[in-house]
Amino acid sequence: MTTPSLLILPGDGIGPEVMAEVRKVIDWYGAKRDLAFDVSEDLVGGCAYDKHGTPLHDDTMAKAQEVDAVLLGAVGGPQYDSLDFSLKPERGLLRLRKEMDLFANLRPAQCFDALADFSSLKKDVVAGLDIMIVRELTSGIYFGEPRGIIEEGNERVGINTQRYTESEIDRVARNAFELAMRRNKKLCSMEKANVMESGVLWREVVTEVGKDYPEVELSHMYADAGAMQLCRWPKQFDVIVTDNLFGDLLSDAAAMLTGSLGMLPSASLGAPMANGRPKAMYEPVHGSAPDIAGQGKANPIACVLSFAMALRYSFDQGEEATRLEKAIEKVLADGYRTADLLGEEGKDPVSTSQMGDAIIAALDASL
Ligand code: NAD
Ligand code: IPM
Ligand code: MN
Repeated sequence: MTTPSLLILPGDGIGPEVMAEVRKVIDWYGAKRDLAFDVSEDLVGGCAYDKHGTPLHDDTMAKAQEVDAVLLGAVGGPQYDSLDFSLKPERGLLRLRKEMDLFANLRPAQCFDALADFSSLKKDVVAGLDIMIVRELTSGIYFGEPRGIIEEGNERVGINTQRYTESEIDRVARNAFELAMRRNKKLCSMEKANVMESGVLWREVVTEVGKDYPEVELSHMYADAGAMQLCRWPKQFDVIVTDNLFGDLLSDAAAMLTGSLGMLPSASLGAPMANGRPKAMYEPVHGSAPDIAGQGKANPIACVLSFAMALRYSFDQGEEATRLEKAIEKVLADGYRTADLLGEEGKDPVSTSQMGDAIIAALDASL
């Protein structure tokens, strides 16, 4: 078997800090589980702009298309705010998603027992929570045309367009139904069919796809009510499928059910490659966190859990993914907390690298 290839794009801000901890985990698998990866590293985001004058060099894009999986840290930072829109760090990430055609973004929100007390919601609301948000990632208002800022009369107008084709809705819906079949067979689709035509079409197509999955209990909710229900009683959900923008918002909200944005991983999946595995990029849900960058405060768990998703979805190593998730569960149960898991007056947090070392120790203990 050829060694699986992995392209690492640490990016900006806390991206490189959390990725350094993932590198420890990758090295551990090579040394202790005979699971070696052919790892290469490159630039994306502001750091790529600093070096090449573009947030994603064509060579990097080409490499991303060739590897078995991409692992991305985070992009962005205030120093790039005044750049032309096309040069902003975030464009690098959006280009990767679009050109790799990673249409299904899986954002699981799981509440680890040890953190159930820490959520800003009551313990019984979040304890045992295990939901999956499937966010459409390559279309909708993020990419629809026309877009731009134009002159109209004596003022400017900002324009973005929400646009979904039937096939775009169909493929992400199928992905969500397949996931629901492997979970608790419940799928809730969220849009705003009450005010948006794209939402009307979304609901129709999802309902149609549902006929191929009679075992899955399908429901529909307006996305604003969905946001409310996610905070009120999130355990009513199993899988949620929604569009690009609603999925962005709802997944940040879901992050706080788990305790911190620093806990939420994601997998961005496309069509199957020649080897049968999906084209894929794995990325934490959080951003570059400029407010804490460079201080060793970042929680690396979202990024480490993103690598666990890579083990499961790209490398057919479900048992090793579970080993890594259990190691994180143990570290949290043992009381290791980065600052984000301690609240405002949190005392004695561990650093990013101490958290990474604790995860390695827990992996060692699992052998
Ligand atoms: P953010 O996710 O970077 O930060 C929001 C808050 O959460 C901050 O207080 C931050 O300190 C905290 N936080 C985030 N991740 C954390 C972690 N791992 N450990 C501890 N605390 C963590 O969102 P933002 O501040 O709105 O955006 C900052 C920049 O990141 C922007 O340029 C934005 O475009 C970019 N961004 C990038 C991605 C990505 O690369 N996937 C995602 C979201 C935002
Ligand atoms: C995310 C981020 C991105 C998005 C930005 C950085 C382009 O917020 O991955 O959630 O809006 O999709
Ligand atoms: Mn987001």
